[in-house]
Amino acid sequence: MNMYKTFLHGGDYNPEQWLDSPEILEKDIEYMKKANINEVTLGVFSWSVLEPEDGVYEFGWLEEIINKLHKNNIKVMLATPSAARPKWLADKYEEVLRVDESRHRNLFGGRHNHCYTSPQYRRKVREINVRLSKTFGNHPAVIAWHISNELGGECHCPLCQEAFKEWLRKKYKTIDALNKAWATTFWSHVYNDFSQVESPSVRGENGLHGLNLDWKRFVTDQTVDFVKAEKEALLEGGSNLPIIINMMYDYCGLNYFKFKDVVDIASWDSYPTWHKGDDVEIAVDTALQHDFIRSLFKKPFLLMESCPSSTNWQSVSKLKRPGLLLASSLQAIAHGSDSVQYFQIRQSRGSSEKFHGAVIDHYGKTDTRVFKEICEVGDGLNKIEEICGSKTNAKVAIIFDLESRWAMEDAQGPRNKGLHYRDTVKKAYKGLRRLGLNVDIINMEQEIDEYEIVFAPMLYMFRDGFEQKARNYVEQGGSLVLSYWSGIVNETDLCHLGGIPHQLLDVFGLRSTEIDGLYDGEYNYGVSVENNHLNLNKTYRCEHLCDLVRETTATPLLTYQEDFYKGFPALTCNTFGKGKAYYICADFEQQFYDDFCEKLVEEKEMQLELLNIPRGVQVTTRETDKDIYVFVQNFNKEAITVDMPLNKYTIIYGNYDGTIQSFGTVILKRNK
Ligand code: GAL
Repeated sequence: MNMYKTFLHGGDYNPEQWLDSPEILEKDIEYMKKANINEVTLGVFSWSVLEPEDGVYEFGWLEEIINKLHKNNIKVMLATPSAARPKWLADKYEEVLRVDESRHRNLFGGRHNHCYTSPQYRRKVREINVRLSKTFGNHPAVIAWHISNELGGECHCPLCQEAFKEWLRKKYKTIDALNKAWATTFWSHVYNDFSQVESPSVRGENGLHGLNLDWKRFVTDQTVDFVKAEKEALLEGGSNLPIIINMMYDYCGLNYFKFKDVVDIASWDSYPTWHKGDDVEIAVDTALQHDFIRSLFKKPFLLMESCPSSTNWQSVSKLKRPGLLLASSLQAIAHGSDSVQYFQIRQSRGSSEKFHGAVIDHYGKTDTRVFKEICEVGDGLNKIEEICGSKTNAKVAIIFDLESRWAMEDAQGPRNKGLHYRDTVKKAYKGLRRLGLNVDIINMEQEIDEYEIVFAPMLYMFRDGFEQKARNYVEQGGSLVLSYWSGIVNETDLCHLGGIPHQLLDVFGLRSTEIDGLYDGEYNYGVSVENNHLNLNKTYRCEHLCDLVRETTATPLLTYQEDFYKGFPALTCNTFGKGKAYYICADFEQQFYDDFCEKLVEEKEMQLELLNIPRGVQVTTRETDKDIYVFVQNFNKEAITVDMPLNKYTIIYGNYDGTIQSFGTVILKRNK
C-alpha cells in the first residue's frame, strides 16, 4: 500500500475563480463525491488571491475550502504558487521577469515567466511558502506539496549570467580547464577569464557545443536549486509532507533525473493526441513516457494531470471516444501510477483555458457523457484498490539518456536532418513490450546489474564511467545491445580518440570505422547470415544511418545488402565473459526489433506472462510480495481474441469472453 492507502482520483481545482458563487463551490463537492473523487490539487495559480498586495495575505478562503473538503473526505495536494505571479509583484521587482536568449526582458504575462535566480523572486516565494506551510502544513486533509507547476524554460538575465559563471568556476576551477573541455581554440574563441563567458545565444555564441551543454546542465541545476529553496521554506514553516513536481511529456529542457534528491514522488501530465491516427501507436508512445517517469525514482508515480475529454491547445480539440478515458487512466495505473488526476475539476469561464475539458463543464450538471465516464474511472479504481502501492518489476531496460541526447542533437554530425533518437528508442521498446515485458527507461547514471537485457541505442556520449559499467555488466552475464553512433564523445562533447565505441572495442569485438548518413527515402538492407545463432532469417530494411564496422572477435548476424559496404556486418554479437554484447549497425525497421527482441528473450529463457499477444494489446504487470497483477488492454478499434491461460489466474477486473472489447481492460491476478 502506498502512503495514501488508496488510488488518488481527482485533479486541479481552482475555487478561487468562483469565490463569488458559493452555491457553485457547494455543488463542486457534491459532484466530486458522486464521481468518487477523493483528492484535489489546490492553489496552483492562486498567488494574486492569496497575496493581493505585497505582504498582505488572505488565506481565509483557502482554509474554508480545505476544511470543507476534509469534512467530505477529500484530500488536498497544496501547490506553492510560484508558477505564475501577481502583476504587482512583477511591477515592483522587475528582476523577477525572464530575459530571453536575445537578452530582452519579457513583459508581465503568461506563466513560467520568472527568473529562477532572482533573489527577490526567491524571497517572495519563500515568504508565501513559509506561511502556507505554517497554516496548512499540518492540516489533516493536506497530503503533499505540489511545487510550482510544470517547471521549465530558462532565463538569460544578468543574475543568471553571474550564477552561470559561478557554476563554471566551481566545475572547472581554472579557465584553462574550461577552454580545453570546450575546445575553444576552434574559431579562436578562447576565454581569458570566467567573467567573459556568456550563455549561448542566437545572436552570439552558439557553436561551442561544450558551452551549450553546460548551459543546459546549469539550467537544470538552477531549477533544482529553486525547488530546493521552495522545499526549505516549507520545512521552515513546519511541514515535511512529500514534495512533488509535475513533469511533462518528452520535455528536453530539464534533466528530470537530477530532481531525485529533492522530490519524493515523480509525476507527469499526460496529454496524448488520442485518435490522431492509430491509437495503438499512441498507446505505445504514452506507455514509454509512463515507464520513463516511473523509472526515474523506481517507485510508483502519480498521473498528475490528464484531460477528461479534449484539450484546447492541441491543433485539433478531438473528443476522447467512449471508453478511452477509462482505458488511458488504467494504462497509467498498469505502468505504476497510484493516481488518476485531471486538469481540471471545473471548467473556467474565461481566459485561455475556458474550452479545455473538465470534470464539470459550463453546463454545470452531472448528466453529461464525460461525467459519466469519470464516474466509471472512479468506480474502476475502487474495484482494484488492492493494487495501489504495488511495484513494477522490470527485467529489461532501455537507456534513454538526456545529456547524451542534448549533445547528439547539437553535434552537427552524420545527419542534421534528423537522427530519430526517440523513434529508435521506441522501436526497441515496442519490440520488448510486444512480448508483454515491463521495461525500465533509464539513463546511463542508473544501475544496470539487475536487468537481463539492456538496450543502449545511439548512446553518443559515454560519461560517469559508463564504459566500466557496460564492461562489468557483460562480463557478469548480461546481454547488452549497443547501436551505431555510440561512445563517440566524452561528457563535454569532445570526441574520444583511439577508436569507438570508446573503451569497449574488445567487449563488442569490433571498431566502428565510418558512418554513412542516408538521405530521406534512401534505404539499405540487412540480410540474415545463414545459420546465425539467433536463427534470424529475414532481410530487414534500414535507413538514416549505416555504421561501417570492422569486426575482430564479433560474429555478424546480418550483413548489408547494398552499396560499397555490401557484405559488411549490419548486426553483430560478441561473447565477452559470461555475457553477450550485440551491436546494431543501422537504423532498422520495426520488424527487425520485433524479431530480434523475441530471439533475445528466448536466448535468456525469460518467463512471459502471456504468449502470442496480438498487435494493439498491451500487457503490463505490477506486483506485491505475494501476488502478480497482469493488465491486459486492447487499444485496437475492434474487439480482439486474446489467449489467456485462465487456469493460472483469477480475473479481478473487466470483461473477457475469449475476446477483449475495444479500449477494454482485463486485470488478472495470480499468486507468485
Ligand atoms: C498543463 C498545465 C495545466 C493546464 C493544462 C492544460 O500543461 O499544467 O495548468 O494548463 O496543461 O492542458
